[in-house]
Parts: sequence; C-alpha cells; structure tokens
Amino acid sequence: MTDSMRFLMCPPDHYEVDYVINPWMEGNIHKSSRDRAVEQWQKLYYLLKDRAIVDLVEPQPGWPDQVFTANAGLVLGDQVVLSRFLHKERQGEEPYFKRWFEDNGYTVYELPKELPFEGAGDALLDREGRWLWAGYGFRSELDSHAYIAQWLDIEVLSLRLIDERFYHLDTCFCPLSGGYLLYYPPAFDSYSNHLIEMRVPPEKRIALEQVDANNFSCNAVNIGSVVVMNQASDALTEYLTEAGFEIVETPLTEFMKAGGAAKCLTLRVNEPIRAEIHANVPVESRTINMEGHLLDAGIMNRALDLIVESGGSFQVLNFQLGEQRQSISRAEVKVSAPSPEVMEEVMTQLIDLGVVDLPQESHDAHLEPVTQAGVAPQDFYVTTIYPTEVCINQEWVRVQKQRMDAAIAIKETPTERLVRCKLIRDLEVGEKVVVGVEGIRTVRNTDARERSSSSEEFTFMGAGVSSERRVEIVVEQIAWEMRRVRDRGGRVAVTAGPVVIHTGGSEHLSHLIREGYVQALLGGNAIAVHDIEQSLLGTSLGVDMQRGNPVHGGHRHHLRAINAIRGCGSIAKAVDQEVLTKGVMYECVRNHVPFSLAGSIRDDGPLPDTEMDIIKAQQEYARLVEGADMILMLSTMLHSIGVGNMTPAGVKLVCVDINPAVVTKLSDRGSVESVGVVTDVGLFLSLLVQQLEQLTSPYHVAETS
Ligand code: ARG
Repeated sequence: MTDSMRFLMCPPDHYEVDYVINPWMEGNIHKSSRDRAVEQWQKLYYLLKDRAIVDLVEPQPGWPDQVFTANAGLVLGDQVVLSRFLHKERQGEEPYFKRWFEDNGYTVYELPKELPFEGAGDALLDREGRWLWAGYGFRSELDSHAYIAQWLDIEVLSLRLIDERFYHLDTCFCPLSGGYLLYYPPAFDSYSNHLIEMRVPPEKRIALEQVDANNFSCNAVNIGSVVVMNQASDALTEYLTEAGFEIVETPLTEFMKAGGAAKCLTLRVNEPIRAEIHANVPVESRTINMEGHLLDAGIMNRALDLIVESGGSFQVLNFQLGEQRQSISRAEVKVSAPSPEVMEEVMTQLIDLGVVDLPQESHDAHLEPVTQAGVAPQDFYVTTIYPTEVCINQEWVRVQKQRMDAAIAIKETPTERLVRCKLIRDLEVGEKVVVGVEGIRTVRNTDARERSSSSEEFTFMGAGVSSERRVEIVVEQIAWEMRRVRDRGGRVAVTAGPVVIHTGGSEHLSHLIREGYVQALLGGNAIAVHDIEQSLLGTSLGVDMQRGNPVHGGHRHHLRAINAIRGCGSIAKAVDQEVLTKGVMYECVRNHVPFSLAGSIRDDGPLPDTEMDIIKAQQEYARLVEGADMILMLSTMLHSIGVGNMTPAGVKLVCVDINPAVVTKLSDRGSVESVGVVTDVGLFLSLLVQQLEQLTSPYHVAETS
C-alpha cells in the first residue's frame, strides 16, 4: 500500500518570499535563503521518494509559491478540481498545473471565475475515503464546496477557519490513517469543532497545543504509519508513537517563512475512490429541492451556509442555472446530518428559507392527535410568519391564520377540514397537530429583483441611525402607502407607547385617527393614561407639555387622570359625559376606531378599559390585527413584539423608535416588508402628518389632468 502512493512536488528553483498574502510572510520578504531552501526541499523529496512515488512539475519563473503543490488542485481518482487562487499573486500558477494534470490523463474541472478554491490546501480526504473535509473562510469560498461535492460525488464536510495564521485547512488539520485526526481546535469556529467531534471519536482526536500548531505540525505528510513533519514537541511525539505512528522530522523553516511546510509542498495525486463506507456515526440524508433566483437572491448561499452551520453537510445532485437573469434556477441537494436531531434542525431552517423537502412526489406530513387540551404533541412543528402549506392525503393545503410560534392544527368535521395555526394553549382534544418536518413547505417570494428593489426603497437600516434626509424620504414613502391603503378601504393598525405622548406626538396621532388613517389602536395602560392626563391636565407624567418643565405636584397627575376615568366608568363614557374632550383616546371613541389596552404588572390604576387578563388581551390584539395591510409601531417594544408575533409575512411593518436596537429587533423578521426608522417618534408623526397633507389623492390627480 505504501509504495502505491504518488505525490506531486515542484523543485524550489524560483522559490522566494516576494509578497505578503498570509501573516507568516509578513516581515519575511527576501529573507529566505535559496540554498537552505533547496537543501530542505531535497531532504523532504528523498524522504518521500523512499516511501512513495514522487512526480515533478516544472517550476516556472515569476511564480515563487508554485513549490506549494498542495494548492494545485484537489485530486480524487482520475479527476481533479483545479484551484482558483484568491490572490492574483498565485493565479498565474493555474495554467501550468492545469497542463500537468491534462498531460497526465486527469479529467480537469474548472470552477467559475471569481469562485476561489485553493485545492488540497483547503480540502482533505478522510483517510478511509468516507468524506471530504473542506475548509473555507480565508482562501476558499463555501460555494465552491457545492461544485466539488457534485463533481467528485462525495460528501463534503465544510469547516470554517477563523484564525488568519491558519488560513488553509492543511495548516491546522491533518487526517491520519486509522481514523486519527491531528488538528488545532482554536483554528475553527464552534460549529466546525462540533462537526469534527461528531465525526471523529474522542480517542482518535489529537488536539495540538499552540507550540505544535505554530511549528506546522499539522502540515504533515502521512504515508502508512509514517508521519513526516517539520517538527514535533516531545509530548506530540510521545502521543503519536503511542498511537502507532512513527514521526519523521525534517526542518522546513525556509518554507515556513512563506506559510507552508511538508504537506503544502506535496500533493497526493493518486487518491483512490472508495465505495461509500459509512462512518461509525450514523449519517442521515434527505434530498431537497430549491427553486428560484438561487444565486442572485443569495438563497443558495444561505441554504448551504445554514446546513453547514447547523452541523450538516451537503452534496449537490443537480444544479440548473437559469439561462437568463430573469429565469429561475433549480437545485437538488442531498443534505446529510450526523444525527436525526441535527437533520431536524437543518430541515426546520431550510423550510423557513422556502426549500422543499423531497422532490416531485409529495410526502404527507406526520400528524399526531392532541391528547391533552392546551398541550401539543412533543416534536410539533413550530410555525413562522411565512405562508405555509402542509401535505395531507397527497395534497398541499394552505394553512389558515398564519402566525409565528404556533402549532399547525387540523380539525376534521363531517363537512369540512380546518387547517390553521393555533397557539398551544388553544389546542383541543380531537384535533391533530403536524409533527416533525416532513410534508411542510413555506411559500416565499424569491424574486430577486423584487426583493432588492423593495429593500432598497425601504432599507436604510444598514447605516444604523438614519440621517434626517433619509428619514424624510422614508416618511414620504410611508405617507404615500398610508394614503393608498386608506383610499382603497384597507386597514392600518397602530401600536403606540407612552413616548408618543411625551414627545408631543399626541396631536399628530389624533389627526391621523380623525382623518381615517388608523383602523385600530393597540397599546398598554400607559399610552391611554398619559394621553388622558395631557387632555385633562395639560401634562404628561407631570411634565407641562407646553413648556416642557415639571409642574408642582405633577407626579400625581396621572393618578388623577386614572381616577377621573374610573369615575366615569370607561373611556367611552368619559367622552360621552364630556369629561374627556380631546386627545388620542377621545378621537378613537369619536371616530369608532377600536382600541385594545393590554395590562401589565407595572400598571397604575388601571383604567377600566385596560384588560388585565393577558390571554384575553392577546386575543383582542389578534382580532384587531387581522387583515391589517400595515402596522405602525410607535416606540413600544413590548406591544410591538406582541403584535409582530401574530402577524403573518406580507403585512408592512413600520417600526419607529429612537433606540436603534429596538428598531433592528422589530424589523429584523427576515421579511422584506419591514421598515425601520430610527428617530424621535414625535418628530416622525409630525413629518408624517405634514406629508399626508401635502399628498393629493390620486383620484384628484386623475380628475384634474
Ligand atoms: N505562500 C503560500 C500562500 O500563501 C503558501 C501556501 C501554503 N500552502 C498550503 N497548502 N497551506 O498561498
């Protein structure tokens, strides 16, 4: 077996540290000695020649890193995926390596331009040939793994590198015979470490200390039981000897100045293809279908990222790229996971991305009966904001009352079948609930152009705090949208916090209600209390709203306001009795705009209208939000999140808060329809009213022109 190994090397005739493309090269430009380099290289060459066959590729002037043949490409059987170097400093090596492979009878695969992948430097076969470990993060792009998986028909386990010094996988990772693995865990992110731990049993994992990692001990050539490396600490030598290996040290310090050692200087060119022997770890796999603007919309990237980050791996079975920009791409991807739990996690997230489990044929969703009211079967599928379909009796059925964090409940009556989202507390005995992830799909708008144009229009979150001019533009757009909603008889719901009153927004919000722009108001006890305090006493939490300073004894004002309303019996009655004659709550009553006030532990009073039973309040909120076209969330994280949870995708959300963190939290639902505005809410409302006033109804325009 030993003598059948074959390596490719490149004599160091033109080797030099000429530029800096990794941290090892820093400070080493022209610092290596040619003579010593030749001597070290030859030592390695003869060491390997004693134990294997070594082929040579002709060194080319001007390409000083060509000695590192590990980066020529990735070989499996008689196929090779040619490297696409990230840095232009090495791109010139590509044609020479390509010619060598072609001359030696290999089938050469070439990655798309602009998709970096640096060969066996970043891709290492499990020594039993069970799978390929592939690194990404510095030199190779994760996307390249999809091509490799497809071309070489092999399972790929992607590992994310996070330490710049270990920029290639082979600088910190070395699979050895007998299932052993020499590696440096801190060079990988936590998912990758998890993945390694799931595949390699603890007794086979040899984690290096920093000294050995810095001496490039991972950058080793393994031939049978021999491991050739630059240097090994006593501890490492002892450990490896114990495991049955023989360490052969050979100094490669001149090459370390360029960031490479034994493994980098060689490329195994006769990697045998082994039949799929499965690891001692059970691997589950499933085939999924993806369709849409997979590349432009970044879906492919996100899907693969997600599989890898959750601890799975993938193999691309089929990938049809859309011919034209506007045509759709299709991909069939085999997802593998080391355990059913990981698979479930991966699938749940993929479903959110709009990916369909199993191509063509429909697989019925698993249903389990509710056996205890208000309790879902274990393993129930938790819903998202996206339109969802479930497969029942070979038919895809749209789920009603879409919302997030619910269960999908199926209720059969002699006349109909109801399939809808229900909170667990509302589940009834006799209903069935969808469990697991099979037979579920979400319908996502994957049109790339639509996505990017609408997010461009509305997304200005990127910059964090939006500039004043940006706020104006966005308010203009929101005003335009609100006008259209009103003119077509649509619904806008508003959630508002007490800050609306403190910042002087009361008159503007009142105006919106009066003018028919608001169809429901949702908030807590506080917004109503402060609004009423201002209407009755001219202060908000004791602060004079005209002059902006606290008034004497003002801290009792809000209790006076509550007391007055309690005396009347309700807010509506206070309006009837002409106790309350202006303000937000007054306008709601006068204009028949329904409102719901949800109570909380900190409420004073409360007002008679405040619903202190939270379950009832949630139901009331849900009722008022239903069918909304737009929701204005004004400076209340609590009530806005509550509302966000019950709102399906497709409803425009406008979140306004002075705190960028709140805005990000609220508008980050992954849906394009949310807009975040970081600004003072009083100012926002005044701008909004101004804009609405300036807008001429589109019907008027039509009439006059
Ligand atoms: N100077 C070379 C580079 O930065 C070193 C390559 C080392 N090769 C390797 N397989 N790690 O690309």
